[in-house]
Parts: sequence; C-alpha cells; structure tokens
Amino acid sequence: TTALTIAIDGPAAAGKGTLAKRVAAHYGLPYLDTGLLYRAVGKLADDRGVDLDDAEATGAIATELDTSHLDDGSLRGREAGELASRVAVHGAVRTALTEFQRSFAARAEGAVLDGRDIGTVICPQARVKIFVTASAEVRARRRTDELAAKGRDVDYERILAEVRERDARDAGRAIAPLRPAPDAHLLDTSELGIEAAFQAACAVIDRAM
Ligand code: C5P
Repeated sequence: TTALTIAIDGPAAAGKGTLAKRVAAHYGLPYLDTGLLYRAVGKLADDRGVDLDDAEATGAIATELDTSHLDDGSLRGREAGELASRVAVHGAVRTALTEFQRSFAARAEGAVLDGRDIGTVICPQARVKIFVTASAEVRARRRTDELAAKGRDVDYERILAEVRERDARDAGRAIAPLRPAPDAHLLDTSELGIEAAFQAACAVIDRAM
C-alpha cells in the first residue's frame, strides 16, 4: 500500500492548523504547515524592502528560503499572513516552494500537510484530502476570541474584513487558487468544536486506511 499522505486545505482561520497537528500526532506522522513557507517569504521580502508585487524578486527570495527562516515567532501573526497572501499569488514563488513540499509529502512514513493547494497541486495523489471550511463570520469570531484571550485589543468587524479580503485573494488568484480538490472530503466546522472536527477527520482517514 502507498504511504499515508494527508492533505488538509481550507481558508484562513478555519482551524486547519489545529486539526492538522492533532491528526499528525494521532497517526504518528510528520506535519508541515505550508503557510509558514509563504509567511517566511513575505516577511523576508518585507524586511528587505522588496516590492511584494515583484514576482521575480519575491521568487528569488523563495528560492533562497531554508528551514532556519521558519523559526521566527512573528511569522504566526496577522501581518505575516497578509504578506504571505500577497507573495503567494506569484507563480515564481509557488514553484520555488513546490519541491520542498513535495519531498516532505513523499516521506516513506507518510505525512500531513496543510495549506491551500495541497490536494489540488502539491499532492494530487494524497491518500486523504480534507477541505476544512467555516463561514467567514465564524472564522472571524474565533480569531477575535483567540486574540482577545491573549489580551489583545481586537475589533470583530475589522477581523471579519481581513478574513474576507484574504479569502478573496486566495480564491481569486490565477495560479493555484484556493478550492477543494474534486475528491476532497468537505469538513464544515461552523458548528463543530475542535474535538468534533478531529473525530470527523479521523473517521474519514480511518475509512481510507
Ligand atoms: O495558512 P496560512 O494562513 O498560514 O497561510 C498564509 C497565506 O499563505 C495564505 O493566505 C495563502 O495566501 C498562502 N498560502 C498558499 N498556499 C499554501 C499555504 C499558504 O497560497 N499551501
């Protein structure tokens, strides 16, 4: 049988990361957060004063990227997410990051990858594809609560606008737009807590094993 490769895609703040980490731990598989790669490219470009709309220059940064760039704690923040989605529209950036993701996915023991185009472009042969969704309102509410729990002063309406803007950019781009693969299992978490979402994902994966 082929290795257990699990692709988890979906829009910003749908809970993909939390779900993917739990799934990886449960099945004893290595996990790659592919958003972190785009975040690192966006952040490096911004730090160096490179124009984020410049496909060639940001593509060159993506080529230079190595895992030491992924340790930066600021990559998890909202600003890096915004920078990421701006550089992620460029084919040169996406191509430069493809091989690293594919070789991670090809590990003999299997792997869990989360992102936007894992099931459609990076690993169209993945054994299991899960597309995690939730309404923009639910995602914005969760993100607002998460930030508020960290003591941050956040405005729901503003977060909702950011979520919608990121959705539009990720789904509307010409190259590798955010969309479910035809054979992906849709997992709408609008009304599911993390535990229920995890159970639903495990049910899908167990059936594929
Ligand atoms: O998943 P995360 O929010 O960290 O991703 C940040 C941004 O990186 C996304 O909004 C998207 O534009 C881009 N991305 C992508 N393809 C991936 C992962 C992330 O285009 N596989």
